Amino acid sequence: MRLLILGGTTEASLLARRISLRADLQPVLSLAGRTREPTLPPIPHRIGGFGGVSGLTEFLVGNRIDAVIDATHPFAAQMSANAATACHDLGVPLVLFTRPPWRRQDGDRWTLVASMAQAVLALGDTPRRVLLTVGGLQLTAFAAAPQHHYVVRTIEPPTAITELPDHYLLLARGPFGVEDETTLMRDARIDVLVTKNSGGRATEAKLVAARACGIEVIMIERPKPGDVPAIETIDDMLAWIEDHRAAP
Ligand SMILES: NC(=O)c1ccc[n+]([C@@H]2O[C@H](COP(=O)([O-])OP(=O)(O)OC[C@H]3O[C@@H](n4cnc5c(N)ncnc54)[C@H](OP(=O)(O)O)[C@@H]3O)[C@@H](O)[C@H]2O)c1
Repeated sequence: MRLLILGGTTEASLLARRISLRADLQPVLSLAGRTREPTLPPIPHRIGGFGGVSGLTEFLVGNRIDAVIDATHPFAAQMSANAATACHDLGVPLVLFTRPPWRRQDGDRWTLVASMAQAVLALGDTPRRVLLTVGGLQLTAFAAAPQHHYVVRTIEPPTAITELPDHYLLLARGPFGVEDETTLMRDARIDVLVTKNSGGRATEAKLVAARACGIEVIMIERPKPGDVPAIETIDDMLAWIEDHRAAP
């Protein structure tokens, strides 16, 4: 069975490792090529965009792919939309392999928003001290609210950071612990945290710290459409693969 795994996440790497043990599966992992030095998987891989829906369609046909596993990040909406269109048109089975979203708990002060632009508006007019953990690509949106002080945490230095007049850049890679997150929020006198609802354990501690400190969280909700089946564990994923194996 020939599988295309759309990756770029820890979940995709874990799945690749499990599938590498299966001689009956022929997987290929696809990476967008955003990370400078990605950890290479133990299965065949390719790197770089396909060239939109038409390029992906050509790839699926040319490589006789039997099923596609979309294990991209919950906020990689374009790749998921392209996969949904191409697979629908070709009749190739598609499944989302995704981590569960974070859910609001007692004591949380979450403001839910649908986009980065709405997150900027939700900060309001009064100057605030903001912890931004939204990655580096969409920082430009916050240039529209220069009255705030931004503590920006990213893995690699973001180019758009210069557009925020009042900022402090913190380069760090998770996982993060609750104690360190609490210290960061207290020492930087953070009033509000802005984050995408990525889910996952590695970066969840900031939510626990915000809850403990009574800090508001502006939570950007996931953009993906709900009409593709979603699976959250590797065992369920392997069962899905069995269910979609073509009859010999
Ligand atoms: N967005 C996030 O917050 C985030 C966080 C962590 C990791 N990532 C990972 O970083 C990558 C890019 O994210 P994004 O938000 O820029 O995605 P996106 O906006 O959904 O995708 C933009 C374009 O990048 C290419 N692409 C994305 N994922 C690909 C993959 N796995 N294999 C081949 N091409 C891919 C596609 O180009 P073509 O149209 O040319 O095919 C796609 O149209 C994804 O693999 C994602 O899993 C994203």
